[in-house]
Amino acid sequence: MSKIHRLPDHVVSRIAAGEVVVGVFSVVKELIENSLDAGATKIIVELTNGGKSEIRVSDNGEGMSEDDARVCFEPHSTSKISSFEDIYSIGTFGFRGEALHSISRVSKMKISSKIADEALGTELEVVAGRVVYKRSVQMERGTSISVRDIFFNVPARRKFLKSTSIESRMATEIFERFALSHPNISFLLQRDQSVVHNFAPSSLLDRIISIYSDFSREHLKSVEGEFKRMHLSGYISLPGRWRRRRSLVLFVNNRYVTNQLLAKALYVAYSEFLHKGEHPLAVLNLAIPTEEIDVNIHPQKLEVKFSNEEKVFSFVRDSIKRALKTTFAGRLSLRSYRSDVSG
Ligand SMILES: Nc1ncnc2c1ncn2[C@@H]1O[C@H](COP(=O)(O)OP(=O)(O)OP(=O)(O)O)[C@@H](O)[C@H]1O
Ligand SMILES: [Mg+2]
Repeated sequence: MSKIHRLPDHVVSRIAAGEVVVGVFSVVKELIENSLDAGATKIIVELTNGGKSEIRVSDNGEGMSEDDARVCFEPHSTSKISSFEDIYSIGTFGFRGEALHSISRVSKMKISSKIADEALGTELEVVAGRVVYKRSVQMERGTSISVRDIFFNVPARRKFLKSTSIESRMATEIFERFALSHPNISFLLQRDQSVVHNFAPSSLLDRIISIYSDFSREHLKSVEGEFKRMHLSGYISLPGRWRRRRSLVLFVNNRYVTNQLLAKALYVAYSEFLHKGEHPLAVLNLAIPTEEIDVNIHPQKLEVKFSNEEKVFSFVRDSIKRALKTTFAGRLSLRSYRSDVSG
């Protein structure tokens, strides 16, 4: 019945170690990833006071049995890998068995979870890593995790939390990225009792437009590319419609990452269209065989490394170039195009 086990030391020692919880946004990220890994089709994120007072993520995923709920916040406890080699074929966001442990040590965490096979769910509260109570509760299948007073017991780190509005903005950005990488899933974001986003399952294009309301269908062009088991898909903004800051939302196998190499590929592809201070909007997913990337290079898993950087760079650059080129085929000039779309 239980799915969670503790990773052996020789596996733990090879996993990129470091700080998992650096602020509200990283808690939001870890909790949403767990909900997605649990197969949720509906995810609700609630923030109070920018998440500094409370972050709550609820889902309708597979849930945890009573036995699993009791151990999910212990160090190196995971249901997602068994051996280190599993990392090279990983299909889940999680693999370290560290997120809930790290969060539970620095907050007041309440876990409520129920699986389909058990009549009642389990609720327990963990304060600074110690269980304060556990009881059975009536609830639907799924999981709800509430994280209150982050860093309440680590004043030195609490001091580094940003203002409510900045923490709130960063958490909202993370939420939006997951909503973009999983447009087929319902996502709701509530901040201090008011609903900020309420997304029903939709196409990627519709979800982009609901998040970037300054763009409409005519401003976006789909990108599709295929080369040696790599597949690139998504949307880019057409020249003439820009953003003032970098707006590359990049997923590798649906995992949000930052990657200088692919950011460069985007800008190189656009080079003849860009004026100073103009940035394209791009929402792209690169699907690539898992054995050609390493996700275990950053403790928060925000970066990936490609085994053949040059191949990935030229593939992404050329796919974007091709998408831009087909847009201009049959048009008189870039200048007339620009005045069309900006007018
Ligand atoms: N929302 C959820 N629904 C169902 N099970 C969950 C949920 N959140 C956590 N779990 C269970 O608790 C375990 C521990 O979660 P935790 O996030 O700490 O580790 P992980 O996801 O396995 O790895 P990582 O540290 O890389 O995120 C998971 O492996 C999973 O079995
Ligand atoms: Mg996790």
